[in-house]
Amino acid sequence: MNYNIALLPGDGIGPEVIEQAVKVLKVTGEVTGHTFSFTEGLVGAVAIDHSGNPFPDETLDLCRRSDAILFGAIGHPRYDNDPSAKVRPEQGLLRMRSELGLYANVRPVKSIPALAGMSPLKEEIVAGTDIVMVRELTGGIYFGKPRGRSEDGLTAYDTCTYSRSEIERVVHLGCRYARQRRKKVTVIDKANVLATSRLWRETAKEIAGEYPDVEMDFMFVDNAAMQLVRNPSAFDVIVTENMFGDILSDEASMITGSLGMLPSASIGLSTSLYEPIHGSFPQAAGKNIANPVGTILSAAMMLDLSFGLAKEAEMITVAVEETVKEGYVTADLEDRNPCSTTVAGERICSRLREFSV
Ligand code: IPM
Ligand code: MG
Repeated sequence: MNYNIALLPGDGIGPEVIEQAVKVLKVTGEVTGHTFSFTEGLVGAVAIDHSGNPFPDETLDLCRRSDAILFGAIGHPRYDNDPSAKVRPEQGLLRMRSELGLYANVRPVKSIPALAGMSPLKEEIVAGTDIVMVRELTGGIYFGKPRGRSEDGLTAYDTCTYSRSEIERVVHLGCRYARQRRKKVTVIDKANVLATSRLWRETAKEIAGEYPDVEMDFMFVDNAAMQLVRNPSAFDVIVTENMFGDILSDEASMITGSLGMLPSASIGLSTSLYEPIHGSFPQAAGKNIANPVGTILSAAMMLDLSFGLAKEAEMITVAVEETVKEGYVTADLEDRNPCSTTVAGERICSRLREFSV
């Protein structure tokens, strides 16, 4: 079958890691008989440079026409230290999420035995960690209105809003994930303080009734932040709102100590987007040192979740694991004898080719 993929390399190391994922997808196609067609679009600082808009309408159209979106990274240091900048690359990301209805961000965090020593946590704490974080992505304080400044400029405000339907779809998604796994969902909120969190809890409890085989528990976000580093293997599926999910998913990504390896999916109403969780890492841009694995595993998630090609996705995952075990890893994981971005990508491609014989 032919699948049309929108490629949005974006900023920083985005283009380099996307290039490796495209190579891997092409080889996967050769080996399995599928064809993947790619069309590039602009997003982020490169799009601002081109047209002044971090998420131009042509890119939105391209995304809507495609079967799935593969995205690199967004952000440029030029904007980070300039709070007065009117247009920012990150606005492109937020617009992309809301325009495409990408309502849930799914981040698997699984410890890779060959890399267990990389974690800042003790190996015995990390062992057995296998979490799926489901973060609500188009609601909450990120998008609530009103927001802004008082007339005298001395007060600023943001609004956190959630509707039942926004909560329902993401909790259902979490429960469906749990069903295929260890059948446990932890809903993380701040129901002792926030009205939105109380609506989350009430709604989630009702939904739990539809999944009698899934155990649901609730945890306050401050406690969850602690439990994630104290005993991460106690979690199976985590479901939480936008801002808590932003913070906790970065925390969770450190458990494995291999930020560059972790993929994510942003599930949408009609199309979905896949991206590595590391950012644009501008210091490494153009040096051929970035870790392409997070993007390659994001492409594998795309095959599985958007195209239903679970076997093909598994092939990529196995090729990545074998390559890592062989020691073909980039400088973020190996300082003595690291391989380059392109060599890491090529090695994964050659493992994949071996699967065909
Ligand atoms: C993320 C990022 C974004 C977010 C930023 C870049 C707007 O941190 O994808 O987690 O806060 O959602
Ligand atoms: Mg974040």
